[in-house]
Amino acid sequence: MKKGETMDGIQQQELNVDGIRKDFPILERFVREKKLVYLDNAATTQKPLQVINALTDYYTKYNSNVHRAVHTLSAEASEAYDNARQKIAGFINAKFREIVFVKNGSEGANIVLHSLVLDRFKPGDEIISTVMEHHSNIVPWQLAQKKGIRLKFVDIDDRGQLKMEQFDELMTERTKLVTVAHVSNVLGTINPVEEIGRIAHDAGAFFMIDAAQSIPHMPFDVKKVDCDFCIFSGHKMLAPTGIGCLYGKEALLEDMEPFLRGSDMIKEVKLLESTWNDLPYKFETGTPNIADSIAFGAAVDYLNALGMKNVWGHEQNLVNYVMKRLSEIKDLVIYGPQKRGGVISFNLGDVHSHDTASVLDEQGIAVRSGHHCAMPLMKRLGITAATRASFYIYNTKEEIDRLCDALEQARSVFKL
Ligand code: ALA
Repeated sequence: MKKGETMDGIQQQELNVDGIRKDFPILERFVREKKLVYLDNAATTQKPLQVINALTDYYTKYNSNVHRAVHTLSAEASEAYDNARQKIAGFINAKFREIVFVKNGSEGANIVLHSLVLDRFKPGDEIISTVMEHHSNIVPWQLAQKKGIRLKFVDIDDRGQLKMEQFDELMTERTKLVTVAHVSNVLGTINPVEEIGRIAHDAGAFFMIDAAQSIPHMPFDVKKVDCDFCIFSGHKMLAPTGIGCLYGKEALLEDMEPFLRGSDMIKEVKLLESTWNDLPYKFETGTPNIADSIAFGAAVDYLNALGMKNVWGHEQNLVNYVMKRLSEIKDLVIYGPQKRGGVISFNLGDVHSHDTASVLDEQGIAVRSGHHCAMPLMKRLGITAATRASFYIYNTKEEIDRLCDALEQARSVFKL
């Protein structure tokens, strides 16, 4: 394989990071008199002008409700809104009808909880997840326990990788759903979702992926991974907050009862009963988040123009560099495997992660600290918190050098 060539023979190109950074005005700002280094991308990414302009254009030129009126503004808004859904569907190789707009991944999981699990599963049925999940892929399923549904969790090994043999061990004829994160938001572990999906389907279970930390960073194809459902959030891939997606296979969504009820998701309403709108609208209640959906479409345009293979390649270069540089810092414990997505959580000696993050903030460096919405994983790792640096298309090796210099300063501040 030639340098820069991927397994499928497509040349990978280096991102023009200087050019990309010009699209993100916020990256020009100073924090505590230092040039901002934004390394909290797993929490939310920054937004390019193209996304900000999509919002401004909607509100200044064609703000209107969609799919309701015949006037010009409404027709323009409806077309832009539909186009955005089509772009997002194409981005993950799904159909228009398979993309349900939600607030975020958590809301997507709640639709699966109510419309599938609580509606269809029986007492004694089982859901298998893992100990490395974000709360959004744990807490919804806990409600199912009230119906007598059992929750089981696959453990991780010392490197922070799933103990794959446990999927077979935990699976029974009562297992109805297997749901896992594609990439851990704490460990960066890249889980073998195609293999897990095969195990789930061989046992007759549904398979769901929490793709919040993968779809923004790598090529993702719902047909290739053969998931029944997947959830992701726009704000982790350049789009505004408050807009995300639930993907579901068309036949499954068609067969499921809607969870949220009200206007817009109906075909016909009588006083005592109603019929449901076509997919995907059946699962979307009330006036939708039009502006943010359109801006989500602009974010997808932006990522498509870069090429997701190139996005992934850029992040992998950064990850290799940061792993090497961090390994040179004494007293630093890194959690998770060597091969990972662009997420690195660590602790510096016994310093609390909030204290480490405060010293980094003094240097203009934004990282996340705390439990990372993954308290069960923290418990499994035997810690209560960690500091996390996470990367995206605009980050550079120079910024990683600044992170490492600031961590050396933190060692001296805390007298390690
Ligand atoms: N899920 C986001 C994170 O991991 C908020 O930081």
